[in-house]
Amino acid sequence: LRRQILSSSLLESLTTPHGVDRYLEILKPSYSLSDGRAEVLDVERRSVDTVTLTTRPNRRFAGFEAGQFVRVGVEINGVRETRCYSPASAAGRTDQVELTIKSHPGGKVSNYLREHAQPGMFFELSDADGDFHLPAERPERILLISAGSGITPVLAILRTLLAEGHAGPIGFLHYTPGADHHPYREELERIARENPNVALAVSYTREPADELGIEGHFSAAHLNALAPEHGEYETFACGPEPLLDAVRARWAGDGIEHRLHVESFTPPLLVAAPASGGTVRFADSGVEVSDDGNTLLEQAEAAGLNPEHGCRMGICRSCTCKVRAGVVRNALTGDVLEITDGEIQLCISSPAGDVELEL
Ligand SMILES: Cc1cc2nc3c(=O)[nH]c(=O)nc-3n(C[C@H](O)[C@H](O)[C@H](O)COP(=O)(O)OP(=O)(O)OC[C@H]3O[C@@H](n4cnc5c(N)ncnc54)[C@H](O)[C@@H]3O)c2cc1C
Ligand code: FES
Repeated sequence: LRRQILSSSLLESLTTPHGVDRYLEILKPSYSLSDGRAEVLDVERRSVDTVTLTTRPNRRFAGFEAGQFVRVGVEINGVRETRCYSPASAAGRTDQVELTIKSHPGGKVSNYLREHAQPGMFFELSDADGDFHLPAERPERILLISAGSGITPVLAILRTLLAEGHAGPIGFLHYTPGADHHPYREELERIARENPNVALAVSYTREPADELGIEGHFSAAHLNALAPEHGEYETFACGPEPLLDAVRARWAGDGIEHRLHVESFTPPLLVAAPASGGTVRFADSGVEVSDDGNTLLEQAEAAGLNPEHGCRMGICRSCTCKVRAGVVRNALTGDVLEITDGEIQLCISSPAGDVELEL
């Protein structure tokens, strides 16, 4: 191991200024010493607005728990963009990860991948993270609820349970505008046919009801059709806020919130604040700007910096940055804090006066 470390640092010094990653990437693209990378092996556009990538991570990747997310970094027009995606494949393999990405109107990364992803493409891949995952001690009864791209983490949970031979009841309730928007329709129907313990209901929100009478958005009728004793199930829900709000309200009304786990992919509404009149100093870069009222992540990017980030919504913590001193507003809650030698998440913080950051 010592010899490996020595030779890698020697190689690093010989290859400056590009760094060993870049050279190894040219020589053998999947081999990277310091960063996680993945190679796209297969690309499928199974629905009108998604792309499904089968990828092979390099050796740095330590795997994931079903339901967790990874950060994917791609370079678009010379700018490195990072977003979070939840593997849809069963957990337990470190050599293959499936990602399904839904394109958003005007979305940079989702549309780039939907349009340009092809076998042989490489991107950065972080370690897996996130508290939304199947617990180590598997619950006997599990209910999965998803809408749109929120299907990915709950599908990972379903596939993992099936791979483990889980015998307990599993309910799966999915919402999507129509069959042409559903990248996993055939697989889920086959799973439900072949596994008597799996009950599946899909609501095509823009199409007529199915044979179970499932139509429209989340309702008590859907729950009754699929899992009438839902209080006995551990429930994992992922989708847009309106779905999660409806599910939370129902579970709270039934006094069973502790059995509900939710994850949202949608950026939250930030508390708007006018420019504070303060100065933002990015000390390590020697850059100074007048506060324009946006988040510190946006202000750093507008100043030409490229801070580490992922979800841009306060979940992944990858934008955590040291504050030497300053007054900062939490853009989720509106709370203002005076900080000396502390840490903030740049994506959900805006200045409320002068701020000096180690960036
Ligand atoms: C933990 C986590 C896991 C995720 N897993 C997946 C996944 O498996 N598959 C997947 O497709 N996406 C997933 N996402 C969402 C993904 O990270 C990006 O937000 C999404 O791909 C849009 O990125 P973009 O660059 O195309 O859009 P941007 O250029 O960042 O934004 C463009 C516009 O789209 C809006 N927008 C951005 N994200 C969303 C969203 N999720 N829903 C509605 N509007 C949005 C923005 O408000 C903006 O107006 C996940 C997000 C998180 C936080
Ligand atoms: S970018 Fe994910 S917490 Fe800020």
